[in-house]
Amino acid sequence: MAGAIVVIGSSNVDFIMKMAHLPRRGETVTDAVFLQTFGGKGANQAAAAARAGGDVAFVNCVGDDRYGVAIRENLQAAGVDVGSVATVPGVASGTALVMIGDGGDNYLSVAPGANYRLTRAEVDRARSLIDGAALVMLQCEILPDTLEYAIELAAGRRRPILLNLAPARAISEASLRKLNYLVVNESEAEFLCGFPVDSLPCAARAAEVLRARGPQAVLITIGSQGVCVACDGPPTHVPAFEVPAVDTTAAGDVFCGALAVALVERQPMADAVRFASAAAALCVTRLGAQPSIPTRQEVDRFLQLDSR
Ligand code: RIB
Repeated sequence: MAGAIVVIGSSNVDFIMKMAHLPRRGETVTDAVFLQTFGGKGANQAAAAARAGGDVAFVNCVGDDRYGVAIRENLQAAGVDVGSVATVPGVASGTALVMIGDGGDNYLSVAPGANYRLTRAEVDRARSLIDGAALVMLQCEILPDTLEYAIELAAGRRRPILLNLAPARAISEASLRKLNYLVVNESEAEFLCGFPVDSLPCAARAAEVLRARGPQAVLITIGSQGVCVACDGPPTHVPAFEVPAVDTTAAGDVFCGALAVALVERQPMADAVRFASAAAALCVTRLGAQPSIPTRQEVDRFLQLDSR
């Protein structure tokens, strides 16, 4: 197995309703199907990396409720080392409400709960994991201070860092400069750049603008259009795989988890992005966050069957 991936981030229990169309203001929709699953961007990325064949450890906080126990057990079953998942007394585990409409688009609302108890102290306690990491992967569902501290610590120990700036949040230029990989979607890129990122040419421009701010590689995911990658030379476009979309929840997380594994395996960037795009494509054909994460075998098979 290639080197270890340390994911520092959030875990949630997702309460999902899938319906024919999303309700307008004041409207009640009565045809929804309900599903309770495990989610949270950090946990989703950790599980996705483990299922893609990575050696993964997760640094996180859960509440002392029944969800906290279940979140830990579920990640362990996916093959994630949960030794650095702390239980915070008297606090609820993170929760998310997800509404999915026709075509797989979603509305999401998160109550961070124990995720906002992940502080510098927990990151410090995971120092030995970070020291041995081939890649440290982060997202933005934890406190900004914890996020920037983790970046500083990992960079100080010369560990490669992948930040998925999701959901979009202000970040210091100093932290941006320390990143090896920055992964954002169109709206997150727009948030960082201050101009619309609604087409491939705009994404290419945004990727160059962001790369000039420090990250060695910038990847902008543009939904069904694929990924725009700026690492060396002019930005390139990796098209997405065409699949019937059931639910796009966690597609970005699965992309990041699989990408992390491919990068740690030292796959060339174009191959790594193709591998991650295949994992994300499989994810959108299924309902829910962690139940949709494909295994390595499924991703490899999908790529073998692809004729393009
Ligand atoms: O990225 C998808 C995730 O965002 C969901 O699983 C939900 O928990 C929110 O964190």
